[in-house]
Amino acid sequence: MIDEERMPAGLLGDGGTLDKSCNRSSVGEHVDGAEHERSGGNTMKRLAFVLLAFCGALLGAPVHAQSYPNKPITIVLPFAAGGPTDVIGRILARDMTKLLKQQVLIENATGAGGTLATGKVARAAPDGYTLLLHHNGMSTSPALYRKLTFDPLTDFEYVGLVADVPMTIVARPNFPPNTLPELLTYIRENRTKLTMGNAGLGAVSHQCGMLFLSTLKTEMTTVPYRGTGPAMNDLVGGQIDLLCDQTTQTTSYIRSGKVKVYGVTTRERVASLPDIPTLQEQGMAGFEMAVWHGIYAPKGTPPAVINRLSEALGEALRSPDVRARFADLGAEPVVPDQVRPEALRAHLKAEIEKWGPIIRAAGVYAE
Ligand code: MLT
Repeated sequence: MIDEERMPAGLLGDGGTLDKSCNRSSVGEHVDGAEHERSGGNTMKRLAFVLLAFCGALLGAPVHAQSYPNKPITIVLPFAAGGPTDVIGRILARDMTKLLKQQVLIENATGAGGTLATGKVARAAPDGYTLLLHHNGMSTSPALYRKLTFDPLTDFEYVGLVADVPMTIVARPNFPPNTLPELLTYIRENRTKLTMGNAGLGAVSHQCGMLFLSTLKTEMTTVPYRGTGPAMNDLVGGQIDLLCDQTTQTTSYIRSGKVKVYGVTTRERVASLPDIPTLQEQGMAGFEMAVWHGIYAPKGTPPAVINRLSEALGEALRSPDVRARFADLGAEPVVPDQVRPEALRAHLKAEIEKWGPIIRAAGVYAE
């Protein structure tokens, strides 16, 4: 029995040199046919798909890895354009386009705290042309969502870890408190009137906001967005009061004075924002939050394709231009050993094991 979703890339075509009876567009059409079959399509299409997949297996698989990539690659991002994940994704896409000699495009597939994009990539053709860039949310979603359409540990191949990014607590520009002690007092006195934005359950802005409020033993109204890009627009416009967001987005707003900042969430200060104290050094003992990122491909993507992607990612992260842009935004590329499939999977597994019990004990989840 052939499982279309798990078919290796060679079986799904794109071989480039396949003969006329197994040509590329025909195979592509029958991938769509397989989708149709799952929702009740006819048996002939299924049979045609199997035959074409068989042709692909005979003719396409070895060619595929050698000629990869021979068409644009799409990196799917789980959050809105203009936000912090988008910033990381576009810096990498630009450099990987040069390295792979093929266009690397960005697609923002937002919603449900990043789980829609993740499910979409899990179900994409495993041919190396659809990838996912995701952060900590990949490890927290199994505990946060009762129903998920993917399993982070069985439905993906792993390209490698990317970078770690600190977070900052920021407020609208005309928010009264100027310092962290003033902020804490203000929150205690006004909490029923205040709002904090986030990018939904599974977003790091949500996780950081919850940690911040639970450290203060308080609550406030939270406002979910499809990413912290739109949340930042509303913060600057004064529609919401507070946001915990990554330096890849907040740095320019902090430098230009468009938001107020109360502290960084990492143990050490951020080199690119040296004047901003950590929350820990201002008395919030143990408060620590950083955002890690990884690149994933659908399960069944051929190892040679994954290796090519890992190499290109590693090269991009060593490039002086990428390093300079990351450094300016407080993002720290991982060490070369971490830009590997095993490193990403091991890190993801450890994070799932760490956060699962904490989230379940807190009783936070979506149906
Ligand atoms: C984004 O890119 O919008 C953020 O990474 C969302 C989040 O807070 O997780």
